Amino acid sequence: MATNITWHNGLTRAERSELRKQKGATVWFTGLSASGKSTIAVALEQHLLKHGLATYRLDGDNVRFGLNKDLGFSPKDREENIRRIAEVAKLFADSTTIALTSFISPYKADRQIARDLHADAKNDTALPFVEVFIDISVEAAEKRDPKGLYKKARAGEIKEFTGISAPYEAPEKAEIHIHSEKTSVEEAVVIITQYLQDRELIP
Ligand code: PPS
Repeated sequence: MATNITWHNGLTRAERSELRKQKGATVWFTGLSASGKSTIAVALEQHLLKHGLATYRLDGDNVRFGLNKDLGFSPKDREENIRRIAEVAKLFADSTTIALTSFISPYKADRQIARDLHADAKNDTALPFVEVFIDISVEAAEKRDPKGLYKKARAGEIKEFTGISAPYEAPEKAEIHIHSEKTSVEEAVVIITQYLQDRELIP
């Protein structure tokens, strides 16, 4: 625990937003492995970039190669994984970038921590936090199984695998609920961008 530290005030977020002509936000994807959250996040990232907006995607697998390489998949490690990602996303959003996070984030309490961190942002007002639930049944995700992980989990080769031997607590009040089996990637991008436009988070 750090002591003797003082928050340093520089530019406010409102000033950064004004100079950069962009607002920041975190779009928090949650869903089972193979639900399509990363695919949709990538398509959204492309769409936003094509429209001249600064955005950056943080992805479960990728972040575990670096920042979170010390973490596994126990409930405690997942909690710390999500807490760190939420802090990083918050920095991006505070910089007026649109942070896209695609993590299973299976526990309600951990997603609430991520949301609360954005609500408690220092400087100005709360940072916008948009939870996007990519909803898919375990059966359908298991059928897709692009990385063969469900197969390994069923064979007992992966412990604590979400949906098989570890829980996924579905959100009840996500800002956006996308049914992965019925919605195309393109449709999902339209739904999310429309939501962001309606709230004037993007032009
Ligand atoms: S979590 O629950 O939010 O901390 O998980 P996350 O950081 O998103 O990492 C999920 C990716 O890790 C791979 N993987 C596992 N997922 C779930 N359970 C277990 N035990 C596991 N072991 C490895 C898997 O590739 C996940 O990626 P996605 O993109 O979700 O398929």
